[in-house]
Amino acid sequence: MPLPPLTLLLLTSLIPICSSSFAAEPPPPPRTLPHQSHFTKHKFHIKNDNNKSDSYQQYFEITRPLPFDTLIPSCTLPVFSHNFDNTIGLPPATTDYFPPTNCTWTHVSLHLTVASNGSQYDRISAVWLGGAELLRTSTAEPTPDGVFWNVSKDLTRYSSLLRQENITLSVMLENVVNDVYTGVYRLNLTFLYYDTDSNDTSSEGFNFPLKTHWDLYENPADLIIPVSGNGDEGFWFRIKKDSDVKYKGIQIPSNTYKAVIEIYVSFHGNDEFWYSNPPDSYIEMNNLETKRGHGAYREVLVMLNDNVVGSVIPFPVIFTGGINPLFWEPIVSIGAFDLPSYDIDLTPFLGMLLDGKKHSFGLKVADAISFWLVDANLHLWLDDNLKEVQAMAIEYSVPNINLERESKFHELDGSFEIEGKRKE
Ligand SMILES: *[C@@H]1O[C@H](CO)[C@@H](O)[C@H](O)[C@H]1NC(C)=O
Ligand SMILES: *[C@@H]1O[C@H](CO)[C@@H](O)[C@H](O)[C@H]1NC(C)=O
Ligand SMILES: *[C@@H]1O[C@H](CO)[C@@H](O)[C@H](O)[C@H]1NC(C)=O
Ligand SMILES: *[C@@H]1O[C@H](CO)[C@@H](O)[C@H](O)[C@H]1NC(C)=O
Ligand SMILES: *[C@@H]1O[C@H](CO)[C@@H](O)[C@H](O)[C@H]1NC(C)=O
Ligand SMILES: *[C@@H]1O[C@H](CO)[C@@H](O)[C@H](O)[C@H]1NC(C)=O
Ligand SMILES: *[C@@H]1O[C@H](CO)[C@@H](O)[C@H](O)[C@H]1NC(C)=O
Repeated sequence: MPLPPLTLLLLTSLIPICSSSFAAEPPPPPRTLPHQSHFTKHKFHIKNDNNKSDSYQQYFEITRPLPFDTLIPSCTLPVFSHNFDNTIGLPPATTDYFPPTNCTWTHVSLHLTVASNGSQYDRISAVWLGGAELLRTSTAEPTPDGVFWNVSKDLTRYSSLLRQENITLSVMLENVVNDVYTGVYRLNLTFLYYDTDSNDTSSEGFNFPLKTHWDLYENPADLIIPVSGNGDEGFWFRIKKDSDVKYKGIQIPSNTYKAVIEIYVSFHGNDEFWYSNPPDSYIEMNNLETKRGHGAYREVLVMLNDNVVGSVIPFPVIFTGGINPLFWEPIVSIGAFDLPSYDIDLTPFLGMLLDGKKHSFGLKVADAISFWLVDANLHLWLDDNLKEVQAMAIEYSVPNINLERESKFHELDGSFEIEGKRKE
């Protein structure tokens, strides 16, 4: 099965980038708050017009409404509530999940509300159910007057997990709270269950299709197997260099007829702005101290038994402390509160997988420097009427990546261009 041709063109210009820090890499660097000294952030705050001192500023990510947002949920389940204070180095906070009793549902959505006041960096966070990731999110930077925001996400594709009794729900948000960084992130997570087959729900406004023919998750998978870590430091894999490959051995049921791998990814530390990192030669020749180098090409690769079976160039989500924090308040950048996940259809590889044996699923980031947080969910559809599905790959080849790098600079001024192609 040939991979689809991939073309990427990255143009890098030398923009000054404000560093944004995440607690996820222990130990936390001792530093002052550069955002507060460089930018007069708080003076620009527009308070709610009721002059109440307790009115928190709302932050938003502009998104499409969920298709079933206007329906009345058949059940509402508050699943998790936690204050993330000095959580650096701690394992994720957990709770035992049970689906709502006596509730008929076809669709589920997640509603996350976060509030914080004080001074704090933006932090990365994720929600897992049974080690499978449901949401990758990041926080807004609070102010002394306080900020809050809501995130909604369609979880219907995870229905098979959401129907399981007593499965662990984990939330990771490493934060540092001390005399300087005072902001605690207070989180509430609620799941809303909808029955779109029922006549009780007000169907007003429910007029655009829930299902689209190109949707890989038109019917949610029967089984979801996480391709993730053991959970002590969050279930994500920490990828620090090009040669890091994180594997998980998985044996899939012999009646699997469709397989999709869903990849979650975020980039931090020296690779937070990987798409604008200059080449190492530029850093060396200018005697710069920055470690944010290695050029501007990265590619997340999915491996199956050491064969590349798919790849993704992730969307460059900018966190709320990125480039200039004033850009991201109160409207955050695309994906900051709900980072995109990426789907790769592995159905053409079922011939390699349906032999009743364990196979290694691997994740790596080409050209990575520290650090990336990557994991994946393997969604499997099973045929109840068959013991074994027959599958065979007719042809398999991986088009090589072809990279062209051009770099022109004189002292600090210059331009860098990278062009990458995968083509048969
Ligand atoms: C808020 O306070 C200002 C200054 O004290 C006042 O002029 C304004 O009318 C108040 N706004 C409301 C909505 O009360
Ligand atoms: C389940 O719901 C039905 C209809 O609302 C109700 O009659 C029944 O008592 C409920 N059962 C339980 C165990 O709550
Ligand atoms: C979380 O829920 C509790 C209990 O309902 C409420 O008191 C609190 O204000 C909520 N916090 C946020 C951030 O929504
Ligand atoms: C946050 O707000 C609460 C309530 O107004 C206050 O008691 C607390 O000191 C504030 N925290 C910080 C870090 O400003
Ligand atoms: C945010 O979510 C909370 C809790 O679900 C809800 O009470 C509140 O109305 C929401 N706020 C907005 C502005 O949507
Ligand atoms: C849920 O699972 C945990 C650990 O696996 C166990 O300790 C607990 O008793 C279970 N709860 C119920 C209600 O079955
Ligand atoms: C919904 O209502 C229609 C007409 O009133 C009825 O024919 C249909 O059976 C109902 N469906 C369900 C799932 O109750």
